[in-house]
Amino acid sequence: MASGTFEGMTRQTITTGGGNAVEVRGLVKHFGAVKAVDGVDLDVREGTVLGVLGPNGAGKTTLVRCLSTLLVPDAGRAVVAGCDVVRQPRALRRRIGLTGQYASVDEKLSGWENLYMIGRLLDLSRKEARSRADAMLERFSLTEAAGRPAGKYSGGMRRRLDLAASMIGRPAVLYLDEPTTGLDPRTRNEVWDEVRRMVRDGATVLLTTQYMEEAEQLADELAVIDRGRVIAEGRVEELKAKVGGRTLQVRPADAGELDRMVGALAQAGLDGIAGATADHDGGVVNVPIVSDEQLTAVVGLLGARGFALAGISTHLPSLDEVFLAITGQKTSEAADADRAVETENEEYAGVSA
Ligand SMILES: Nc1ncnc2c1ncn2[C@@H]1O[C@H](COP(=O)(O)OP(=O)(O)OP(=O)(O)O)[C@@H](O)[C@H]1O
Ligand SMILES: [Mg+2]
Repeated sequence: MASGTFEGMTRQTITTGGGNAVEVRGLVKHFGAVKAVDGVDLDVREGTVLGVLGPNGAGKTTLVRCLSTLLVPDAGRAVVAGCDVVRQPRALRRRIGLTGQYASVDEKLSGWENLYMIGRLLDLSRKEARSRADAMLERFSLTEAAGRPAGKYSGGMRRRLDLAASMIGRPAVLYLDEPTTGLDPRTRNEVWDEVRRMVRDGATVLLTTQYMEEAEQLADELAVIDRGRVIAEGRVEELKAKVGGRTLQVRPADAGELDRMVGALAQAGLDGIAGATADHDGGVVNVPIVSDEQLTAVVGLLGARGFALAGISTHLPSLDEVFLAITGQKTSEAADADRAVETENEEYAGVSA
């Protein structure tokens, strides 16, 4: 690497011309018979977050490794922050940051030493490496723990140190490979806040995740990948809309009326309205609808039958439902939740029998 390039460096803004910080075309990486990445096309607009969503083994980490020069793709082309990943690996490495799925910090070194070392590896001067290490520790609320060995950090602290490490060189493009897997909800929220802040500061982010909620929280655009291929892409709302209908939720003023409302809807046999269900925990009736006319018909009927309504709302399908509709497979999260519900029902059946 050429030295001295980091003195007073500001964020790189080199783009590929079309305003994309990342452009991937026909990228392929096979491991023997395993088609880990099997012809992927992706664009990430500068200053935005692309969520790459996929189940275990979909090829997310392999994709990130190809885009960060850790693996050489078998075929295809990728340009990141203006650099071809195969032809300009050294220049590219100075413009990207990577937070891997597996923590990359040295456990024996302190948090500060880890960051200083990474700064030096990135060719920062001693002075610059010191000030970047201090600044990043401060930013990720690790200043107090700066002198302790990273091996003694909690999971959340290590993840924050990892994020800090990926930010040392002020990267134009950041890869976050499942940045919150295994974190508790509070720490997950902290990481989300940091990602939002990085984007506000101008970074472009490619984020892989298995969590629908994470994608929904952070991503501007989504690419759903499965078995090495992009199977759907678009804005979160677009993907949800693709799956079809909405759910109308009607909340009666008296929660005791839920079953009577479901009965009234079933009896009325409104055009295209079927399968209304009562959600007793939520205190609402859920009605699948496909049009505004149906919404009006349902609310009109309930009013005509004398039900007092406290609220109505409509919801697009959740990303879990989107994934199921696209891949025919549930995500591991949703499958776990189903198993939990089944167990609960079995217990309930046991009690009532
Ligand atoms: N170095 C390797 N050698 C052989 N096979 C590999 C290698 N790396 C990944 N694979 C295989 O490639 C496929 C994609 O793996 P990858 O790690 O990219 O998936 P992933 O989407 O990151 O999954 P996860 O959500 O579990 O992290 C898997 O079948 C995996 O076993
Ligand atoms: Mg992975």
